Amino acid sequence: MVSFTQFCILYFYFIASVVSQVSEFISIDCGSTSNYTDPSTGLSWSSDMDIMKHGRQVKVENPNGNSMQFRTRRDFPSDNKKYCYNLSTKERRRYLVRATFQYGSPANVDAYPKFEIYLDATQWATVTIQDGSRKYVNEMIIRAPSDSIDVCICCATTGFPFISTLELRPLNLSMYATDYEGDFFLNVAARVNFGALTKDLVRYPDDPYDRFWESDLDRRQNFLVGVAPGTARISTSKNVDIRTREYPPVKVMQTAVVGTEGELSYRLNLEGFPANARAYAYFAEIEDLAPNETRKFQLREPYIPDYSNAVVNIAENANGSYTLYEPSYMNVTLDFVLSFTFSKTNDSTEGPLLNAMEISKYQQIAAKTERQDVTALNAIRNMSAESVWVNEGGDPCVPTHWEWVNCSPTPPPRITKIALSGRNLKGQIPSEINHMEELTELWLDFNSLTGPLPDMSNLINLEILHLENNKLSGSLPLYLGRLPNLQALYIQNNSFSGEIPAALLSKKISFNYEGNPGLHNEAQRKLRFKLILGASIGVLAVLLILFLGSLILLRNFRRKMSHQKCDENGNSTQPGTKQSTACSIARGGHLLDEGVAYCISLSDLEEATNNFTKKIGKGSFGSVYYGKMKDGKEVAVKTMADSSSHLNKQFVTEVALLSRIHHRNLVPLIGYCEEAHQRILVYEYMHNGTLRDHIHGSVNQKPLDWLARLKIAEDAAKGLEYLHTGCNPSIIHRDVKTSNILLDINMRAKVSDFGLSRQAEEDLTHVSSVARGTVGYLDPEYYASQQLTEKSDVYSFGVVLLELISGKKPVSVEDFGPELNIVHWARSLIRKGDVISIVDPFLVGNVKIESIWRIAEVAIQCVEQHGYSRPKMQEIILAIQDAMKIEKGDEGNAKLACGSSRGQSSRKTLLASFLEIESPDLSNGSLVPSAR
Ligand SMILES: *[C@@H]1O[C@H](CO)[C@@H](O)[C@H](O)[C@H]1NC(C)=O
Ligand SMILES: *[C@@H]1O[C@H](CO)[C@@H](O)[C@H](O)[C@H]1NC(C)=O
Ligand SMILES: *[C@@H]1O[C@H](CO)[C@@H](O)[C@H](O)[C@H]1NC(C)=O
Ligand SMILES: *[C@@H]1O[C@H](CO)[C@@H](O)[C@H](O)[C@H]1NC(C)=O
Ligand SMILES: *[C@@H]1O[C@H](CO)[C@@H](O)[C@H](O)[C@H]1NC(C)=O
Ligand SMILES: *[C@@H]1O[C@H](CO)[C@@H](O)[C@H](O)[C@H]1NC(C)=O
Repeated sequence: MVSFTQFCILYFYFIASVVSQVSEFISIDCGSTSNYTDPSTGLSWSSDMDIMKHGRQVKVENPNGNSMQFRTRRDFPSDNKKYCYNLSTKERRRYLVRATFQYGSPANVDAYPKFEIYLDATQWATVTIQDGSRKYVNEMIIRAPSDSIDVCICCATTGFPFISTLELRPLNLSMYATDYEGDFFLNVAARVNFGALTKDLVRYPDDPYDRFWESDLDRRQNFLVGVAPGTARISTSKNVDIRTREYPPVKVMQTAVVGTEGELSYRLNLEGFPANARAYAYFAEIEDLAPNETRKFQLREPYIPDYSNAVVNIAENANGSYTLYEPSYMNVTLDFVLSFTFSKTNDSTEGPLLNAMEISKYQQIAAKTERQDVTALNAIRNMSAESVWVNEGGDPCVPTHWEWVNCSPTPPPRITKIALSGRNLKGQIPSEINHMEELTELWLDFNSLTGPLPDMSNLINLEILHLENNKLSGSLPLYLGRLPNLQALYIQNNSFSGEIPAALLSKKISFNYEGNPGLHNEAQRKLRFKLILGASIGVLAVLLILFLGSLILLRNFRRKMSHQKCDENGNSTQPGTKQSTACSIARGGHLLDEGVAYCISLSDLEEATNNFTKKIGKGSFGSVYYGKMKDGKEVAVKTMADSSSHLNKQFVTEVALLSRIHHRNLVPLIGYCEEAHQRILVYEYMHNGTLRDHIHGSVNQKPLDWLARLKIAEDAAKGLEYLHTGCNPSIIHRDVKTSNILLDINMRAKVSDFGLSRQAEEDLTHVSSVARGTVGYLDPEYYASQQLTEKSDVYSFGVVLLELISGKKPVSVEDFGPELNIVHWARSLIRKGDVISIVDPFLVGNVKIESIWRIAEVAIQCVEQHGYSRPKMQEIILAIQDAMKIEKGDEGNAKLACGSSRGQSSRKTLLASFLEIESPDLSNGSLVPSAR
């Protein structure tokens, strides 16, 4: 029994809580033209005129009942956009969000609307209007994920989407807490007041939290059927203590149904089920039972047997009458049709009793667009005063994306494209844009953007950047040249100034920078300078250029001729055979259309190589044969060991890639053949063989002098530098060695055997994981970590430089003993300052020691243990050019034997910092090269 004082305390507490709760209610009467207080509830309703710029206010025809909120509604266009109300919340506080829809009953309706509502990115419900006079209610219980939520209306399949009211009701702190609330909202499926006195729903002020408790008499709304015979309705006017957890209204608890014949049964439809649900039953004994009377019953729900055994004894469970007992199933799987029966136990004198129940579906919270993307988009929206696109509400990507962005399909959505060409944007590009890592396209052209470009170096996926026709200024940042996926950069007609980063110019991208008077192209300027110089040299140069030009033209012409021949061959001989398709597919496949490499038929190659008779070497993949094409061109025909045919496409791709790589210091690929399980690459023939042959003496001619070696080193280094920095993606050679540096008829060096690295890797991976490369040249860091970088090539090139200095092979038991290789040997001597001991005896006396030192120094840096300590190819080229300058220097300068003092002092400065050695005295003339 509740005493009078207890009752008073309860009463005052109740009033206090009501007051505090209601001041935070948000009640929006959509489509209404004025704010008002509803006399039936005392709640203040506000019009949505100020917060919703879209759609139109519509007067509802023949509204049902006299509720003021349903005299108007707001209709939205039936398009592919979403229309969102933004409600402010307190993060992590629980709320009840309610949207209602009453269409009204116009004289003639073609089709009632059907559309979707979303709460943030989470699909809330499909609103299907079937009866214009009915009020459709959707309630969601949420723990606010942030400081505002969006309720969006969209995706109409029939009619115009609309909304009548939108309400936000804060709940008490622990109400409706679940273990899953971080990932799930509670989508209310049923909240039924049993034994209700009228058909009206119970809400505020009876429920301080303004939940809708539907009357069980309102069958149409609850679909309550299958009521057991003997079901009686009871009620009391005594207070019921509801202070348990969910605080149902006292008014709801004051009524109940009882099964006077021992059973209560109901069947109700659950919209959106089957699903996992949270189910609550509210029990309070509201009959005054005599001491010899008991009420005990069990749930009979055939589909959830686990729960059927518990015996409900309300008075015992609640510790007395007129007190709430609310057992719950926090996670139960329910079907669309819920049938349940309460049956009294055998030892109970009274039948079962039920005051209320509540069932909510766990609705998985869908991921919103990544926050940093939204922040950046908001910063961009602030740059415009326009209203339409700027005010598109809700999440940028879900349920439908903003008209000016594209999104990635997998959650959480990321922005992939921003299209704001000519949208009157003003000011600086916001720095927040650098956090949109998934952005691939950015169109901000034809606006009034000012200021410098912000840092966008994180936008590694950026492919297309349009900034033309703005007022942007400042220099072009270096990162632009490093964006790995950039394909198009348009910055024309701005006020950029300074130098264009070299990396941008060397990249193969669409790049337009016209109309920036302050911007200059250093490479072009140099070119212009050279042209002027050329003019002054005179007609000779012009003639030379003409001559070279005609040579190239002739070559191209010949190439085209033979190329056509291949096509004709392929198409005319035995059409439909593998032979003919091999060539025509590759031709038609667009892979090779911009390259010069062309398909050569096997028969042509057999003819050119005299049936593969003259073997001139062995490449890393197979034998190499000499050949002479019909047009007289000498070629090196590289066969590749037979490998599985599923890699065919990859081979063609590789060839297409290779054929696009053109550099004076790379052996050009002329053509390829892929027939009858043969894969053949045809390269230009290099008359002077490999560098290896020249320095290790297998060629019967006098060894190369130092300057010739430097020239070869420079050429090879340039070829490698191009592979590392001029190609996109950059190419790591992986097998730099003297036998892969070839010499043409003019003794110019070209690097060969590059670009098939990936292919080789694919071929090898299933066999072993041994690093590719050649003993003696292999980067130990790569060998240990399997992490391949350009610096592995640098290591190998360092070994090549040591070979050039010493004339020794990288691995030689005879020279270095079994433990050592050229790197160990040279490093220990150079560290001691004894460079003379490593110099090739042939060079001694014909070379300037300082020039040797310059190369020795960079070679030792190249073979540093860690890749990051090694120089870049560019720095190596500079060192080689230095050495050449020194070597060519004053004709009468002292040669090695004399050990010039200039050499010494400059060597000290060059080496002191990184070798920290004391240089030996070279001037006493006693230094003799060590014997070989
Ligand atoms: C909320 O519930 C707690 C008990 O869980 C109670 O102490 C508190 O007074 C309630 N507050 C309101 C505003 O209802
Ligand atoms: C209605 O009330 C809101 C605040 O709730 C206010 O911002 C708005 O101006 C009012 N509108 C009218 C038409 O009075
Ligand atoms: C919603 O309102 C909050 C403040 O209440 C604001 O911070 C947020 O940017 C708004 N969201 C949208 C999408 O307009
Ligand atoms: C409920 O239980 C089911 C299976 O018993 C489980 O898969 C699910 O994650 C649980 N929670 C929710 C919120 O559905
Ligand atoms: C309980 O006792 C009353 C008399 O006190 C009696 O009339 C009634 O029949 C009893 N009811 C039951 C179920 O035994
Ligand atoms: C049950 O109620 C009685 C008085 O009504 C009280 O003395 C007792 O402490 C309560 N027991 C529990 C467990 O709340």
